[in-house]
Amino acid sequence: MAYAAFRSIGAYVPTKILTNNDLSKMVDTTDEWITKRTGIKERHLAAPNETTSDLGVEAAKKAIERSGVALEDIDMVVCATISPDYFCMPSTATIISKKLGLGNVTAFDISAACTGFVYILSIAKAFIESGMKKNILIIGAEKLSAITDYTDRGTCILFGDGAGAAMICATENKHEAIIDVHTGADGTYADLLMTPNGGTGSPHDSLDQEAGSCFMQMKGNETFKVAVRTLTKDVVDILEENKIDATEIKHFVPHQANYRIIKAVGDALKLTKEQVVLTVHKYGNTSGASIPMALNDIYENGSLQSGELLLLDAFGGGLTWGSALVPFSPLK
Ligand code: ACO
Repeated sequence: MAYAAFRSIGAYVPTKILTNNDLSKMVDTTDEWITKRTGIKERHLAAPNETTSDLGVEAAKKAIERSGVALEDIDMVVCATISPDYFCMPSTATIISKKLGLGNVTAFDISAACTGFVYILSIAKAFIESGMKKNILIIGAEKLSAITDYTDRGTCILFGDGAGAAMICATENKHEAIIDVHTGADGTYADLLMTPNGGTGSPHDSLDQEAGSCFMQMKGNETFKVAVRTLTKDVVDILEENKIDATEIKHFVPHQANYRIIKAVGDALKLTKEQVVLTVHKYGNTSGASIPMALNDIYENGSLQSGELLLLDAFGGGLTWGSALVPFSPLK
C-alpha cells in the first residue's frame, strides 16, 4: 500500500500592508478594538493586477523546489479557494498548472472556505493511498480583498491575501505517512458566513451589486461560538482516536482567524505557548491559505523539523471544519 507523505511547504505573501491604523481611517474602528478582539495588527493585500492564481503560483514554485519533485512528475493539482480567478470556470488549479508549465495533470478547485487546506490534504491523501496519483501539489490561495466590503467594519478588519502550497507524495515508509485527516460540514449554519450574490441561489443583479452582497457577509459572534465548540471537539477526537497525547505535538497549526479562538482550542488541549503557531497578527485571516502560510513561517524560521508531528485544524464558511495529524517528512 502507498502512504501519503507531507514533503514540503511554500508560501507567498503580497508586499502591500494594510494596518489597523489604516483601517481606522476607512471605517469606525480602532487598532485597540481590533487587537483586543482578534489579535490582528496588519494584513497583506495583493496588487490590483495580481490574481489568486498569481499568488498560488509563487507559493507552489517554492513548495515544488523544496520537495525535490520534478515538474513532469506532478500528476495532480488541487486548489482550495473562495476567491478564484473566475467564479465558474476555468478552475484556478488549471490556471496555476498552466502558469507552472505542467503538462497533462488532473486539476480542480474545491470550496470549503477556511477549512480548504485540510480538505485538500484529505483529498491528496485519499488519491495517493488508492494508488491513483503519486505527486500532488495542493494550494490554498486567496485574494480575499477582492470579495471584502471595505465599508463593513465587522468583516474588513479580519481578512488578508496570500497563498501557501505543499507537495504530498507517495511513500512506502509508514513512519512518513499522514496519520489521519478529519473533515466535517453542517449546512444548518450556512447563513453565518456567505457571499450571497452571484450563484443560482441569488443570481447577480445590479441592485444586489450596489448593496454589496457579492462581498463576504458574516454573523461574527455566532460564528465565533460555533468555531470554538466545533474545533475543540474535533482536535480532542482526532488525538483520542489515534491514541496520541497532546504533548507529542511539536507544533499546533490552526487556521488563523482570531487569536481568542486559537487560544481557546490550545487551552482545551493544555498546549504550551511554544506549541501553538500564531501568524494572525501579521497576516489576518487568509482563509484556505492561512495554515500553509503559517507552516511556511515555521519552516523559514527553522523551527519546523523533519519528522516532527503537526496538528492542523480549521473551520470556515459552510460551516466546514477539519483537523489533521501530519508528520513533516521532507526528502532533503
Ligand atoms: N470596530 C469597533 N467596533 C466594532 C467592530 C470594529 N471593527 N466590529 C464590530 N464592532 C462592535 C459591534 O457593532 C458591537 O457593538 P454593540 O455592542 O454596540 O452592538 C460590538 O463591537 C461587539 O460586536 P461583536 O460582533 O459581538 O464582537 P465580537 O467580540 O464577537 O468580535 C469578531 C467580532 C472579531 C468578528 C468575532 O466575532 C470573530 O472573530 N468571529 C469569528 C469570525 C471568524 O473566525 N470567521 C472565520 C471564518 S471566515 C471564512 O470562512 C472565510
